[in-house]
Amino acid sequence: MPIALTRPVSPNMAECELTHFERQPIDIALAEKQHEEYEDVLRALGCEIVHLPELEFHPDSVFVEDCAVVLEEVAIITWPGAETRRGEVHSVAEALEPYRKKIYYIEDPGVLDGGDVLVVGKQIWVGMSSRSNTAALLQMQQILAPLGYLVQGVKVKNCLHLKSAVTAVGPDTLLLNPDWIDASIFEDFNIIETHPDEPGAANALLIGEDVVYPADFPMTALRLAEAGIELFLVDNSEVIKAEGGVTCCSVVF
Ligand code: GLY
Repeated sequence: MPIALTRPVSPNMAECELTHFERQPIDIALAEKQHEEYEDVLRALGCEIVHLPELEFHPDSVFVEDCAVVLEEVAIITWPGAETRRGEVHSVAEALEPYRKKIYYIEDPGVLDGGDVLVVGKQIWVGMSSRSNTAALLQMQQILAPLGYLVQGVKVKNCLHLKSAVTAVGPDTLLLNPDWIDASIFEDFNIIETHPDEPGAANALLIGEDVVYPADFPMTALRLAEAGIELFLVDNSEVIKAEGGVTCCSVVF
């Protein structure tokens, strides 16, 4: 049974980091309700939810994905690019100890957010964003090349993370926004583009063959459905205002 690490919404989520978005009021009660419904969908898809402790004074701490990259063989604890987020990693490392014999740590001067790491089989792309750098990419390559992974850096523009721009929606199918990432990098994949009126719609969470997707992007959802992809829709409005997405709110392994 897959494990999904999650963490409660911080009551201070409205003070979150924002890079490309204007600050908007966030309804914390609604965010909590949406997060519970998201967890229910993960349970319905067969995940066991493992709750991390609430971190009241870390506004972005619901975005657990940024703290760890978990592969079959090892886990890598990140060193988040935003200094305000570095207090989030310790409890994620502790929670992963029972599940992975070997846990590595990204070290300064490397900075890495898990939202910049796209894993498809043995291929890994690391977004070179405002949150992740070449030093971290080199550390990832050193850790993972001996395990047979090909780890490549990729430039992202106009968005926070690589997985704001591209995510997997099947074993050989990617959903991407061509304005935020060079689609030609992924020439071996089937590509579904986000609808032009929904630039933030590229973030989908693939669990096995199932796709958890925000109900907030109906025109891109239609494109996915027309491609034969079954979607499990969640309302994600408050997380989206905080510059997050469905992948950010869990670490599934
Ligand atoms: N608000 C999401 C982040 O900046 O990490």
